[in-house]
Amino acid sequence: MSKIKPSKGAPYARIIGVGGYRPTRVVPNEVILETIDSSDEWIRSRSGIATRHWASDEETVAMMSVEASGKAIADAGIAPEQIGGVIVSTVSHFKQTPAVATDIAHRIGAGKPAAFDISAGCAGFGYGLTLAKGMIVEGSAEYVLVIGVERLSDLTDLSDRATAFLFGDGAGAVVLRRGEQDEPGAVLGVSIGSDGSQEDLITVVDRQSHFSMQGQAVYRQAVVSMADSASRAMADVGWTVDDVDWFVGHQANQRILDAVANRVGIGPDRAISNVAHVGNTAAASIPLALSEAASAGRLRAGDRVVLSAFGGGATWGAATLTWPRID
Ligand SMILES: CC(C)(COP(=O)(O)OP(=O)(O)OC[C@H]1O[C@@H](n2cnc3c(N)ncnc32)[C@H](O)[C@@H]1OP(=O)(O)O)[C@@H](O)C(=O)NCCC(=O)NCCS
Repeated sequence: MSKIKPSKGAPYARIIGVGGYRPTRVVPNEVILETIDSSDEWIRSRSGIATRHWASDEETVAMMSVEASGKAIADAGIAPEQIGGVIVSTVSHFKQTPAVATDIAHRIGAGKPAAFDISAGCAGFGYGLTLAKGMIVEGSAEYVLVIGVERLSDLTDLSDRATAFLFGDGAGAVVLRRGEQDEPGAVLGVSIGSDGSQEDLITVVDRQSHFSMQGQAVYRQAVVSMADSASRAMADVGWTVDDVDWFVGHQANQRILDAVANRVGIGPDRAISNVAHVGNTAAASIPLALSEAASAGRLRAGDRVVLSAFGGGATWGAATLTWPRID
């Protein structure tokens, strides 16, 4: 388990911009039902998912990332050349090398930043935040871009009843900079971890294969891990459930989100969810949910937010932050 909790007076990393991109094509459950024996009612009741977005050939991992990043950078009010680090979390970039982060950095005009990919499944955004926070606090970059991006439609077997309806495509991005603990946007605490004894829960073994998932075991582990890491992250910064304005869980499926919120003790009125129209977008899911909630005016400057995710590996990650003031 890895934690970063700065001592009092130490510099903090602060979110100053957020952006998202959803592919143009909206895929309703009716399309999924063309290839699996199921029903709209079953899919909605088991997962809460009604539609998801699937990328076209042009909506590559890099293209979606550039779109989301452009919005986050505009939000932040900085020039792309100021970015000193680009961290991309994804499980659906198919080149072994180079990382897609260098291509994205080049396309957005970021100059010559540190740029690298990380693979931590659906918990990848929390890992990205943790690394960005480390780079900023340690002083190697003043501005860092963290992207979560997926084209999970490429990895989905449309004839598999267990997974065909679950996954979607998209990208979300945040810009962080150095700041103070009491400034809106401060990432107060992060907590990431893994348990390799659960590596068989969700796998894609190579480019030619698809998701293989032990659905019920994933469900049980996701609920326990997401809830427990969220509770730990809150305890680390001295928050009780009453202090929290918003819980933003990995948008795995609605039943998992409801069970986690219930276990943590944060009611559904304070839980952000967009899984009904986005599906499960793995590493993109939390930044995409944040950008949608911000655009809708739900997240306000200074709101106390808890993030939590669980993914293949098994990996998990949680963070506490206050929401930035974005003009
Ligand atoms: C995928 C999931 C919805 C499946 O639900 P489940 O209750 O575990 O489903 P099971 O595989 O045990 O099957 C239960 C029944 O539903 C049926 N079923 C399975 N898939 C079905 C489908 N797509 N449509 C209709 N029926 C289906 C099964 O045949 C079985 O029927 P039976 O009871 O008559 O034998 C559930 O396991 C889940 O949410 N897992 C977590 C998935 C997830 O979020 N993954 C990403 C995490 S990062």
